[in-house]
Amino acid sequence: MSAVVIVGTGIAGLICALRAAERHDVTLVTKAGVTDSATRYAQGGIAAAMFPDDSVASHVADTVRAAAGVGSRRAAEILCNEGPQRILDLIRLGVPFDRVGGQEGVGGAGGVGREQSVAGDLARGREAAHSVARVLHAGGDATGRAIETALVAAVRAAGITVLEQTMLTDLALTDGKVGGIHTLNATGRRSMLRADAVILATGGAGQLYRHTTNPAVSCGDGLAAAIRAGAAVRDLEFYQFHPTSLAVPGNPLVSEAVRGEGAVLLDDRGRRFMPAEHPDAELAPRDVVARAIAEQMQRQDGAPVLLDATALGRGYLSERFPEITRICRANGLDWAADPVPVTPAAHYWMGGIRTDHFGRTSIPGLFAVGEVACSGVHGANRLASNSLLEALVFAWRSVAMIGEPWPSAAADRPERAAALPSPAVARSGRRPAPVLPSSASAGDPFVRVDLQRLMWDEAGLYRTESGLRTAADRLAGWRASTHTIADREDGNLLTVATALVSAALARRESRGAHFRSDYPAASSLAGSLDELTHPAA
Ligand code: SIN
Repeated sequence: MSAVVIVGTGIAGLICALRAAERHDVTLVTKAGVTDSATRYAQGGIAAAMFPDDSVASHVADTVRAAAGVGSRRAAEILCNEGPQRILDLIRLGVPFDRVGGQEGVGGAGGVGREQSVAGDLARGREAAHSVARVLHAGGDATGRAIETALVAAVRAAGITVLEQTMLTDLALTDGKVGGIHTLNATGRRSMLRADAVILATGGAGQLYRHTTNPAVSCGDGLAAAIRAGAAVRDLEFYQFHPTSLAVPGNPLVSEAVRGEGAVLLDDRGRRFMPAEHPDAELAPRDVVARAIAEQMQRQDGAPVLLDATALGRGYLSERFPEITRICRANGLDWAADPVPVTPAAHYWMGGIRTDHFGRTSIPGLFAVGEVACSGVHGANRLASNSLLEALVFAWRSVAMIGEPWPSAAADRPERAAALPSPAVARSGRRPAPVLPSSASAGDPFVRVDLQRLMWDEAGLYRTESGLRTAADRLAGWRASTHTIADREDGNLLTVATALVSAALARRESRGAHFRSDYPAASSLAGSLDELTHPAA
Protein backbone atom coordinates (compact mmCIF):
# COMPACT_ATOMS: atom_id res chain seq x y z
CA MET A 1 0.00 0.00 0.00
CA SER A 2 1.40 3.40 -0.99
CA ALA A 3 0.58 6.83 0.40
CA VAL A 4 -0.98 8.74 -2.48
CA VAL A 5 -1.76 12.45 -2.55
CA ILE A 6 -4.13 13.58 -5.30
CA VAL A 7 -4.46 17.31 -5.92
CA GLY A 8 -7.69 18.49 -7.55
CA THR A 9 -11.31 17.38 -7.35
CA GLY A 10 -12.57 17.50 -10.92
CA ILE A 11 -13.36 14.32 -12.81
CA ALA A 12 -9.67 13.33 -13.09
CA GLY A 13 -8.88 13.71 -9.38
CA LEU A 14 -12.10 12.05 -8.23
CA ILE A 15 -11.66 9.05 -10.53
CA CYS A 16 -8.04 8.65 -9.39
CA ALA A 17 -9.13 8.83 -5.76
CA LEU A 18 -11.85 6.20 -6.19
CA ARG A 19 -9.58 3.82 -8.06
CA ALA A 20 -6.48 4.36 -5.92
CA ALA A 21 -8.40 3.97 -2.65
CA GLU A 22 -9.00 0.31 -3.55
CA ARG A 23 -5.32 -0.41 -2.92
CA HIS A 24 -3.68 2.65 -1.41
CA ASP A 25 -3.91 5.20 1.35
CA VAL A 26 -5.36 8.23 -0.44
CA THR A 27 -5.57 11.89 0.52
CA LEU A 28 -7.49 14.16 -1.83
CA VAL A 29 -6.50 17.83 -1.63
CA THR A 30 -8.27 20.91 -3.01
CA LYS A 31 -7.65 24.59 -2.43
CA ALA A 32 -11.40 25.28 -2.48
CA GLY A 33 -14.45 23.10 -1.78
CA VAL A 34 -14.66 19.56 -3.11
CA THR A 35 -17.18 20.51 -5.81
CA ASP A 36 -15.25 23.58 -7.03
CA SER A 37 -13.72 22.52 -10.33
CA ALA A 38 -14.08 23.15 -14.04
CA THR A 39 -15.77 19.74 -14.42
CA ARG A 40 -18.90 21.14 -12.83
CA TYR A 41 -19.21 23.72 -15.64
CA ALA A 42 -18.99 21.26 -18.54
CA GLN A 43 -22.18 21.47 -20.55
CA GLY A 44 -22.02 19.74 -23.92
CA GLY A 45 -21.03 16.38 -22.62
CA ILE A 46 -18.63 13.55 -23.08
CA ALA A 47 -17.85 11.99 -26.45
CA ALA A 48 -17.56 8.22 -26.98
CA ALA A 49 -18.21 5.76 -29.80
CA MET A 50 -21.17 3.94 -28.23
CA PHE A 51 -23.63 3.66 -31.15
CA PRO A 52 -23.98 1.27 -34.08
CA ASP A 53 -23.50 3.98 -36.71
CA ASP A 54 -20.24 5.06 -35.05
CA SER A 55 -16.85 3.43 -34.59
CA VAL A 56 -13.69 3.87 -32.56
CA ALA A 57 -11.81 4.43 -35.83
CA SER A 58 -14.12 7.32 -36.71
CA HIS A 59 -13.68 8.92 -33.26
CA VAL A 60 -9.90 8.52 -33.58
CA ALA A 61 -9.95 10.08 -37.06
CA ASP A 62 -11.95 13.10 -35.84
CA THR A 63 -9.66 13.55 -32.82
CA VAL A 64 -6.51 13.38 -34.93
CA ARG A 65 -7.93 15.70 -37.61
CA ALA A 66 -8.82 18.33 -34.99
CA ALA A 67 -5.28 18.06 -33.55
CA ALA A 68 -3.98 19.81 -36.69
CA GLY A 69 -1.01 17.62 -37.49
CA VAL A 70 0.71 17.52 -34.12
CA GLY A 71 -1.45 15.16 -32.07
CA SER A 72 -0.42 11.74 -30.89
CA ARG A 73 -2.36 9.08 -32.81
CA ARG A 74 -1.47 6.47 -30.20
CA ALA A 75 -2.91 8.60 -27.40
CA ALA A 76 -6.06 9.20 -29.49
CA GLU A 77 -6.43 5.45 -30.06
CA ILE A 78 -6.17 4.78 -26.33
CA LEU A 79 -8.71 7.53 -25.62
CA CYS A 80 -11.29 6.35 -28.13
CA ASN A 81 -10.79 2.61 -27.53
CA GLU A 82 -11.08 2.77 -23.77
CA GLY A 83 -13.69 5.55 -23.69
CA PRO A 84 -16.82 3.40 -24.03
CA GLN A 85 -15.75 1.09 -21.20
CA ARG A 86 -15.07 4.06 -18.96
CA ILE A 87 -18.52 5.50 -19.74
CA LEU A 88 -20.04 2.24 -18.55
CA ASP A 89 -17.97 2.63 -15.37
CA LEU A 90 -19.39 6.14 -14.89
CA ILE A 91 -22.90 4.76 -15.30
CA ARG A 92 -22.11 2.13 -12.66
CA LEU A 93 -20.85 4.93 -10.40
CA GLY A 94 -24.27 6.56 -10.68
CA VAL A 95 -23.92 9.18 -13.42
CA PRO A 96 -27.47 9.64 -14.80
CA PHE A 97 -26.82 10.10 -18.52
CA ASP A 98 -29.86 11.25 -20.46
CA ARG A 99 -31.86 8.55 -22.22
CA VAL A 100 -33.95 8.62 -25.35
CA GLY A 101 -37.52 9.19 -24.25
CA GLY A 102 -36.36 11.02 -21.14
CA GLN A 103 -36.01 8.31 -18.49
CA GLU A 104 -33.14 10.40 -17.12
CA GLY A 105 -33.29 14.01 -18.13
CA VAL A 106 -33.72 14.74 -21.80
CA GLY A 107 -33.82 12.36 -24.70
CA GLY A 108 -32.85 12.06 -28.36
CA ALA A 109 -31.19 15.25 -29.42
CA GLY A 110 -31.62 17.05 -32.70
CA GLY A 111 -33.33 14.28 -34.58
CA VAL A 112 -30.33 11.96 -34.39
CA GLY A 113 -30.90 8.25 -34.73
CA ARG A 114 -32.70 6.42 -31.98
CA GLU A 115 -30.81 3.16 -32.27
CA GLN A 116 -29.77 1.49 -29.08
CA SER A 117 -26.31 2.37 -27.85
CA VAL A 118 -24.12 -0.30 -26.29
CA ALA A 119 -25.51 0.87 -22.96
CA GLY A 120 -29.12 0.78 -24.04
CA ASP A 121 -31.04 3.90 -24.98
CA LEU A 122 -28.50 6.63 -24.27
CA ALA A 123 -29.33 10.00 -25.82
CA ARG A 124 -26.67 11.79 -27.80
CA GLY A 125 -25.91 15.17 -29.28
CA ARG A 126 -23.70 16.47 -32.05
CA GLU A 127 -20.84 18.93 -31.75
CA ALA A 128 -18.45 20.61 -34.13
CA ALA A 129 -15.93 18.52 -36.08
CA HIS A 130 -17.46 15.19 -35.00
CA SER A 131 -18.48 13.17 -38.03
CA VAL A 132 -21.41 11.61 -36.16
CA ALA A 133 -23.52 12.44 -33.11
CA ARG A 134 -21.67 10.82 -30.20
CA VAL A 135 -21.80 13.29 -27.32
CA LEU A 136 -23.52 11.86 -24.24
CA HIS A 137 -25.06 14.30 -21.83
CA ALA A 138 -26.78 14.42 -18.47
CA GLY A 139 -29.42 16.78 -17.14
CA GLY A 140 -29.57 18.26 -20.65
CA ASP A 141 -26.61 20.64 -20.47
CA ALA A 142 -25.63 19.92 -16.85
CA THR A 143 -23.33 17.02 -17.74
CA GLY A 144 -20.37 18.18 -15.68
CA ARG A 145 -22.46 18.81 -12.62
CA ALA A 146 -24.09 15.36 -12.89
CA ILE A 147 -20.66 13.69 -13.13
CA GLU A 148 -19.19 15.73 -10.29
CA THR A 149 -22.17 15.05 -8.02
CA ALA A 150 -22.08 11.29 -8.59
CA LEU A 151 -18.30 11.05 -8.13
CA VAL A 152 -18.20 13.22 -5.02
CA ALA A 153 -20.94 11.05 -3.50
CA ALA A 154 -18.89 7.94 -4.33
CA VAL A 155 -15.75 9.49 -2.77
CA ARG A 156 -17.71 10.33 0.38
CA ALA A 157 -19.20 6.83 0.50
CA ALA A 158 -15.72 5.31 0.16
CA GLY A 159 -14.55 7.30 3.20
CA ILE A 160 -11.63 8.89 1.33
CA THR A 161 -9.84 11.65 3.24
CA VAL A 162 -10.54 15.04 1.60
CA LEU A 163 -8.60 18.15 2.64
CA GLU A 164 -10.50 21.23 1.47
CA GLN A 165 -9.23 24.85 1.50
CA THR A 166 -5.70 23.41 1.25
CA MET A 167 -3.57 24.67 -1.60
CA LEU A 168 -0.63 22.89 -3.19
CA THR A 169 2.23 25.38 -3.04
CA ASP A 170 5.14 23.23 -4.20
CA LEU A 171 6.16 19.68 -4.83
CA ALA A 172 8.55 18.17 -2.29
CA LEU A 173 11.41 16.38 -4.04
CA THR A 174 14.05 14.08 -2.60
CA ASP A 175 16.88 12.86 -4.81
CA GLY A 176 14.92 13.86 -7.89
CA LYS A 177 11.82 11.91 -6.84
CA VAL A 178 8.58 13.28 -5.54
CA GLY A 179 8.14 12.76 -1.80
CA GLY A 180 4.98 14.75 -1.15
CA ILE A 181 3.61 18.25 -1.39
CA HIS A 182 3.88 21.50 0.51
CA THR A 183 0.56 23.16 1.29
CA LEU A 184 -0.94 26.41 2.53
CA ASN A 185 -4.41 26.53 4.00
CA ALA A 186 -6.96 29.31 4.20
CA THR A 187 -5.79 30.34 7.70
CA GLY A 188 -2.20 30.74 6.48
CA ARG A 189 -0.91 27.47 7.96
CA ARG A 190 1.85 25.77 5.97
CA SER A 191 2.30 21.97 6.06
CA MET A 192 3.86 19.13 4.22
CA LEU A 193 2.03 15.98 3.18
CA ARG A 194 4.35 13.04 2.55
CA ALA A 195 3.50 10.67 -0.26
CA ASP A 196 4.98 7.84 -2.30
CA ALA A 197 3.07 9.12 -5.33
CA VAL A 198 1.53 12.49 -6.14
CA ILE A 199 -1.14 12.86 -8.82
CA LEU A 200 -1.70 16.37 -10.13
CA ALA A 201 -5.27 16.78 -11.37
CA THR A 202 -5.41 20.52 -10.91
CA GLY A 203 -7.08 21.45 -14.20
CA GLY A 204 -6.35 24.44 -16.42
CA ALA A 205 -5.58 28.11 -16.14
CA GLY A 206 -8.43 30.07 -17.70
CA GLN A 207 -7.76 32.85 -15.18
CA LEU A 208 -4.81 33.78 -17.40
CA TYR A 209 -7.26 35.59 -19.64
CA ARG A 210 -9.61 38.53 -19.37
CA HIS A 211 -12.46 36.45 -20.75
CA THR A 212 -12.77 32.82 -19.75
CA THR A 213 -15.40 30.14 -19.31
CA ASN A 214 -13.33 28.66 -16.47
CA PRO A 215 -14.15 29.06 -12.78
CA ALA A 216 -12.09 31.25 -10.43
CA VAL A 217 -10.06 28.27 -9.21
CA SER A 218 -8.43 27.66 -12.63
CA CYS A 219 -5.04 29.31 -11.97
CA GLY A 220 -2.52 26.79 -13.30
CA ASP A 221 -1.41 25.79 -9.80
CA GLY A 222 -0.30 22.25 -10.64
CA LEU A 223 1.46 23.23 -13.85
CA ALA A 224 3.31 26.06 -12.08
CA ALA A 225 4.44 23.75 -9.26
CA ALA A 226 5.61 21.19 -11.84
CA ILE A 227 7.55 23.84 -13.77
CA ARG A 228 9.24 25.02 -10.58
CA ALA A 229 10.17 21.41 -9.81
CA GLY A 230 11.73 21.01 -13.26
CA ALA A 231 9.14 18.69 -14.86
CA ALA A 232 9.08 18.56 -18.66
CA VAL A 233 6.17 20.44 -20.21
CA ARG A 234 4.94 20.59 -23.77
CA ASP A 235 2.60 22.28 -26.24
CA LEU A 236 2.02 25.29 -23.97
CA GLU A 237 1.35 27.57 -26.94
CA PHE A 238 -1.85 25.66 -27.72
CA TYR A 239 -4.64 27.33 -25.74
CA GLN A 240 -8.20 26.82 -26.92
CA PHE A 241 -10.73 29.66 -27.08
CA HIS A 242 -14.36 28.58 -27.03
CA PRO A 243 -16.31 30.40 -29.76
CA THR A 244 -19.43 31.10 -27.77
CA SER A 245 -19.46 32.45 -24.26
CA LEU A 246 -22.36 34.71 -23.38
CA ALA A 247 -21.17 38.31 -23.75
CA VAL A 248 -21.98 39.27 -20.16
CA PRO A 249 -19.71 39.56 -17.10
CA GLY A 250 -18.27 36.16 -16.20
CA ASN A 251 -18.54 34.88 -19.79
CA PRO A 252 -20.68 31.81 -19.04
CA LEU A 253 -20.34 29.04 -21.60
CA VAL A 254 -22.95 28.57 -24.31
CA SER A 255 -22.34 24.98 -25.33
CA GLU A 256 -21.28 24.03 -28.81
CA ALA A 257 -24.13 21.52 -28.59
CA VAL A 258 -26.49 24.45 -29.20
CA ARG A 259 -24.96 24.92 -32.64
CA GLY A 260 -24.97 21.14 -32.97
CA GLU A 261 -28.74 21.30 -32.60
CA GLY A 262 -29.02 23.89 -35.36
CA ALA A 263 -28.46 27.34 -33.85
CA VAL A 264 -26.68 29.80 -36.17
CA LEU A 265 -24.33 32.77 -35.77
CA LEU A 266 -25.41 36.19 -37.03
CA ASP A 267 -23.61 39.48 -37.54
CA ASP A 268 -24.95 42.78 -36.20
CA ARG A 269 -27.21 43.07 -39.23
CA GLY A 270 -28.74 39.66 -38.66
CA ARG A 271 -26.89 37.84 -41.46
CA ARG A 272 -25.14 34.47 -41.14
CA PHE A 273 -21.39 34.81 -41.69
CA MET A 274 -20.02 31.31 -41.04
CA PRO A 275 -21.08 29.72 -44.39
CA ALA A 276 -18.61 32.06 -46.12
CA GLU A 277 -15.83 31.03 -43.72
CA HIS A 278 -15.89 27.22 -43.81
CA PRO A 279 -17.85 24.44 -45.55
CA ASP A 280 -19.05 23.21 -42.15
CA ALA A 281 -20.23 26.73 -41.23
CA GLU A 282 -21.19 26.90 -37.52
CA LEU A 283 -19.89 23.35 -37.02
CA ALA A 284 -16.39 24.07 -38.31
CA PRO A 285 -13.49 23.28 -35.94
CA ARG A 286 -13.53 25.32 -32.76
CA ASP A 287 -10.49 27.46 -33.58
CA VAL A 288 -11.92 28.37 -36.99
CA VAL A 289 -15.27 29.46 -35.52
CA ALA A 290 -13.60 31.38 -32.66
CA ARG A 291 -11.34 33.35 -35.02
CA ALA A 292 -14.19 34.00 -37.47
CA ILE A 293 -16.26 35.45 -34.62
CA ALA A 294 -13.32 37.58 -33.44
CA GLU A 295 -12.83 38.93 -36.97
CA GLN A 296 -16.53 39.63 -37.36
CA MET A 297 -16.48 41.46 -34.02
CA GLN A 298 -13.61 43.60 -35.28
CA ARG A 299 -15.63 44.47 -38.38
CA GLN A 300 -18.48 45.61 -36.15
CA ASP A 301 -16.37 47.74 -33.78
CA GLY A 302 -16.05 45.08 -31.10
CA ALA A 303 -19.76 44.39 -30.72
CA PRO A 304 -20.47 40.71 -29.96
CA VAL A 305 -21.99 38.52 -32.64
CA LEU A 306 -25.38 36.89 -32.09
CA LEU A 307 -26.30 33.26 -31.54
CA ASP A 308 -29.76 32.55 -32.88
CA ALA A 309 -31.33 29.48 -31.29
CA THR A 310 -34.93 30.69 -31.62
CA ALA A 311 -35.81 28.11 -34.28
CA LEU A 312 -35.31 25.34 -31.70
CA GLY A 313 -38.39 26.50 -29.83
CA ARG A 314 -38.94 27.52 -26.24
CA GLY A 315 -39.96 24.08 -24.98
CA TYR A 316 -37.01 22.29 -26.51
CA LEU A 317 -34.50 24.92 -25.38
CA SER A 318 -35.59 24.82 -21.77
CA GLU A 319 -35.72 21.01 -21.73
CA ARG A 320 -32.48 20.29 -23.59
CA PHE A 321 -30.51 23.28 -22.26
CA PRO A 322 -31.94 24.12 -18.82
CA GLU A 323 -28.64 25.53 -17.54
CA ILE A 324 -28.12 27.94 -20.45
CA THR A 325 -31.78 28.92 -20.27
CA ARG A 326 -31.28 29.75 -16.57
CA ILE A 327 -28.07 31.70 -17.30
CA CYS A 328 -29.76 33.70 -20.07
CA ARG A 329 -32.69 34.49 -17.84
CA ALA A 330 -30.40 35.59 -14.99
CA ASN A 331 -28.84 38.04 -17.43
CA GLY A 332 -32.15 39.41 -18.65
CA LEU A 333 -32.07 37.51 -21.96
CA ASP A 334 -34.81 35.36 -23.49
CA TRP A 335 -32.99 33.17 -26.02
CA ALA A 336 -36.21 31.50 -27.13
CA ALA A 337 -37.43 34.89 -28.37
CA ASP A 338 -34.25 36.67 -29.51
CA PRO A 339 -30.68 35.92 -30.63
CA VAL A 340 -28.22 36.38 -27.73
CA PRO A 341 -24.79 38.12 -27.80
CA VAL A 342 -21.78 35.79 -27.74
CA THR A 343 -18.02 36.21 -27.82
CA PRO A 344 -14.99 33.87 -27.70
CA ALA A 345 -13.42 33.14 -24.31
CA ALA A 346 -10.41 31.18 -23.04
CA HIS A 347 -11.59 27.64 -22.42
CA TYR A 348 -9.05 24.81 -22.38
CA TRP A 349 -5.26 24.36 -22.37
CA MET A 350 -4.13 21.56 -24.69
CA GLY A 351 -0.54 21.86 -23.44
CA GLY A 352 0.63 20.96 -19.98
CA ILE A 353 2.94 18.68 -18.02
CA ARG A 354 4.39 16.14 -20.41
CA THR A 355 3.14 12.63 -19.65
CA ASP A 356 3.30 9.19 -21.14
CA HIS A 357 0.13 7.18 -21.73
CA PHE A 358 -0.17 6.38 -18.02
CA GLY A 359 0.03 9.94 -16.73
CA ARG A 360 3.67 9.51 -15.73
CA THR A 361 5.74 12.68 -15.90
CA SER A 362 9.48 13.22 -16.16
CA ILE A 363 9.73 13.25 -12.33
CA PRO A 364 9.55 9.80 -10.76
CA GLY A 365 6.48 9.41 -8.56
CA LEU A 366 4.71 12.39 -10.11
CA PHE A 367 1.62 11.76 -12.24
CA ALA A 368 -0.46 14.35 -14.09
CA VAL A 369 -3.96 13.73 -15.43
CA GLY A 370 -6.73 15.81 -16.96
CA GLU A 371 -6.24 19.34 -18.29
CA VAL A 372 -2.97 19.92 -16.42
CA ALA A 373 -1.39 17.03 -18.32
CA CYS A 374 -0.29 16.76 -21.92
CA SER A 375 -0.07 13.33 -23.47
CA GLY A 376 -0.36 14.92 -26.92
CA VAL A 377 -3.86 13.54 -27.40
CA HIS A 378 -5.35 16.92 -28.32
CA GLY A 379 -2.45 18.23 -30.37
CA ALA A 380 -3.01 21.85 -31.34
CA ASN A 381 -6.79 21.80 -31.02
CA ARG A 382 -9.04 19.68 -28.84
CA LEU A 383 -12.14 18.08 -30.30
CA ALA A 384 -15.31 19.16 -28.49
CA SER A 385 -16.32 16.96 -25.55
CA ASN A 386 -13.06 15.01 -25.55
CA SER A 387 -11.83 16.69 -22.36
CA LEU A 388 -13.98 14.87 -19.80
CA LEU A 389 -13.25 11.66 -21.68
CA GLU A 390 -9.51 12.26 -21.66
CA ALA A 391 -9.51 12.99 -17.93
CA LEU A 392 -11.52 9.85 -17.26
CA VAL A 393 -9.50 7.47 -19.46
CA PHE A 394 -6.02 8.64 -18.47
CA ALA A 395 -6.89 9.00 -14.77
CA TRP A 396 -8.06 5.39 -14.82
CA ARG A 397 -4.87 4.23 -16.50
CA SER A 398 -2.50 6.19 -14.27
CA VAL A 399 -3.65 4.55 -11.05
CA ALA A 400 -2.54 1.13 -12.31
CA MET A 401 1.06 2.42 -12.29
CA ILE A 402 1.18 3.59 -8.66
CA GLY A 403 3.96 1.72 -6.89
CA GLU A 404 5.37 0.28 -10.13
CA PRO A 405 8.99 0.99 -11.12
CA TRP A 406 9.29 4.31 -12.96
CA PRO A 407 10.36 3.69 -16.53
CA SER A 408 13.50 5.59 -17.42
CA ALA A 409 11.86 6.47 -20.73
CA ALA A 410 9.20 8.54 -18.96
CA ALA A 411 11.89 10.59 -17.26
CA ASP A 412 14.63 10.70 -19.84
CA ARG A 413 12.96 11.03 -23.20
CA PRO A 414 14.14 14.34 -24.63
CA GLU A 415 11.54 16.97 -25.28
CA ARG A 416 10.92 17.20 -29.00
CA ALA A 417 9.31 20.02 -30.87
CA ALA A 418 5.70 19.17 -31.73
CA ALA A 419 6.23 21.14 -34.87
CA LEU A 420 9.54 22.66 -35.66
CA PRO A 421 9.04 26.35 -35.16
CA SER A 422 12.30 27.75 -36.45
CA PRO A 423 15.27 26.45 -38.39
CA ALA A 424 17.43 26.42 -35.27
CA VAL A 425 14.89 24.40 -33.36
CA ALA A 426 14.40 22.17 -36.39
CA ARG A 427 18.10 21.36 -36.45
CA SER A 428 18.36 20.60 -32.77
CA GLY A 429 14.97 18.93 -32.44
CA ARG A 430 14.66 20.54 -29.00
CA ARG A 431 12.36 23.23 -27.79
CA PRO A 432 13.78 26.07 -25.81
CA ALA A 433 13.26 25.60 -22.07
CA PRO A 434 10.41 27.75 -20.81
CA VAL A 435 11.57 31.08 -19.49
CA LEU A 436 10.67 31.38 -15.84
CA PRO A 437 9.48 34.59 -14.23
CA SER A 438 11.83 36.67 -12.17
CA SER A 439 12.58 35.52 -8.66
CA ALA A 440 10.19 36.42 -5.91
CA SER A 441 12.40 39.24 -4.67
CA ALA A 442 12.77 41.01 -8.03
CA GLY A 443 10.16 42.89 -10.03
CA ASP A 444 7.12 45.00 -9.28
CA PRO A 445 3.85 43.86 -7.74
CA PHE A 446 1.01 43.48 -10.24
CA VAL A 447 -2.74 43.08 -10.16
CA ARG A 448 -4.26 40.00 -11.74
CA VAL A 449 -6.50 41.91 -14.09
CA ASP A 450 -3.45 43.55 -15.71
CA LEU A 451 -1.97 40.13 -16.42
CA GLN A 452 -5.31 38.92 -17.80
CA ARG A 453 -5.60 41.96 -20.11
CA LEU A 454 -2.03 41.54 -21.29
CA MET A 455 -2.52 37.86 -22.08
CA TRP A 456 -5.85 38.51 -23.82
CA ASP A 457 -4.36 41.27 -25.98
CA GLU A 458 -0.95 39.78 -26.78
CA ALA A 459 -1.19 36.00 -26.31
CA GLY A 460 -4.84 35.36 -27.13
CA LEU A 461 -6.60 34.40 -30.35
CA TYR A 462 -4.11 36.40 -32.45
CA ARG A 463 -0.41 36.63 -31.69
CA THR A 464 2.58 38.41 -33.19
CA GLU A 465 6.30 38.48 -32.44
CA SER A 466 6.17 42.06 -31.18
CA GLY A 467 3.04 41.50 -29.07
CA LEU A 468 4.47 38.37 -27.51
CA ARG A 469 7.76 40.17 -26.80
CA THR A 470 5.82 42.98 -25.13
CA ALA A 471 4.04 40.38 -23.02
CA ALA A 472 7.29 38.60 -22.14
CA ASP A 473 8.93 41.88 -21.08
CA ARG A 474 6.04 42.98 -18.90
CA LEU A 475 5.68 39.57 -17.28
CA ALA A 476 9.40 39.55 -16.53
CA GLY A 477 9.01 42.83 -14.65
CA TRP A 478 6.37 41.52 -12.25
CA ARG A 479 6.52 39.53 -9.06
CA ALA A 480 3.90 38.09 -6.72
CA SER A 481 4.06 37.64 -2.99
CA THR A 482 3.41 34.34 -1.24
CA HIS A 483 1.40 35.10 1.91
CA THR A 484 -2.10 34.01 0.93
CA ILE A 485 -3.74 31.54 -1.39
CA ALA A 486 -4.65 34.45 -3.72
CA ASP A 487 -1.01 35.63 -3.75
CA ARG A 488 0.12 32.13 -4.64
CA GLU A 489 -2.45 31.97 -7.42
CA ASP A 490 -1.10 35.23 -8.84
CA GLY A 491 2.42 33.83 -8.73
CA ASN A 492 1.29 30.66 -10.47
CA LEU A 493 -0.48 32.64 -13.18
CA LEU A 494 2.71 34.62 -13.68
CA THR A 495 4.74 31.42 -14.01
CA VAL A 496 2.44 29.74 -16.49
CA ALA A 497 1.83 32.95 -18.48
CA THR A 498 5.58 33.32 -18.90
CA ALA A 499 5.91 29.72 -20.05
CA LEU A 500 2.98 30.09 -22.48
CA VAL A 501 4.38 33.26 -24.02
CA SER A 502 7.81 31.69 -24.38
CA ALA A 503 6.30 28.68 -26.21
CA ALA A 504 4.17 30.94 -28.43
CA LEU A 505 7.25 32.96 -29.39
CA ALA A 506 9.09 29.78 -30.34
CA ARG A 507 6.38 28.51 -32.67
CA ARG A 508 6.73 30.68 -35.75
CA GLU A 509 3.76 29.28 -37.62
CA SER A 510 0.00 29.07 -37.23
CA ARG A 511 -1.48 25.74 -36.23
CA GLY A 512 -4.76 24.84 -34.55
CA ALA A 513 -5.48 27.22 -31.71
CA HIS A 514 -2.10 28.97 -32.02
CA PHE A 515 -2.49 31.72 -34.62
CA ARG A 516 0.45 33.99 -35.44
CA SER A 517 -0.70 36.91 -37.61
CA ASP A 518 2.95 37.32 -38.66
CA TYR A 519 3.22 33.63 -39.68
CA PRO A 520 -0.35 32.90 -40.81
CA ALA A 521 0.43 29.58 -42.51
CA ALA A 522 1.31 26.20 -41.04
CA SER A 523 4.99 25.33 -41.35
CA SER A 524 5.91 22.51 -43.70
CA LEU A 525 8.58 21.54 -41.16
CA ALA A 526 5.91 20.51 -38.70
CA GLY A 527 5.44 16.84 -38.06
CA SER A 528 3.54 14.56 -35.82
CA LEU A 529 4.97 13.93 -32.39
CA ASP A 530 3.75 10.37 -32.49
CA GLU A 531 5.93 8.12 -30.42
CA LEU A 532 8.77 10.63 -30.43
CA THR A 533 7.87 12.14 -27.12
CA HIS A 534 5.93 9.31 -25.61
CA PRO A 535 7.20 6.06 -24.25
CA ALA A 536 5.06 3.28 -25.68
CA ALA A 537 1.97 2.48 -23.65
C1 SIN B 1 -19.26 22.83 -24.88
O1 SIN B 1 -20.25 22.36 -24.34
O2 SIN B 1 -19.29 23.49 -25.91
C2 SIN B 1 -17.93 22.58 -24.25
C3 SIN B 1 -17.53 21.21 -24.49
C4 SIN B 1 -16.05 21.10 -24.56
O3 SIN B 1 -15.33 22.04 -24.27
O4 SIN B 1 -15.58 20.04 -24.96
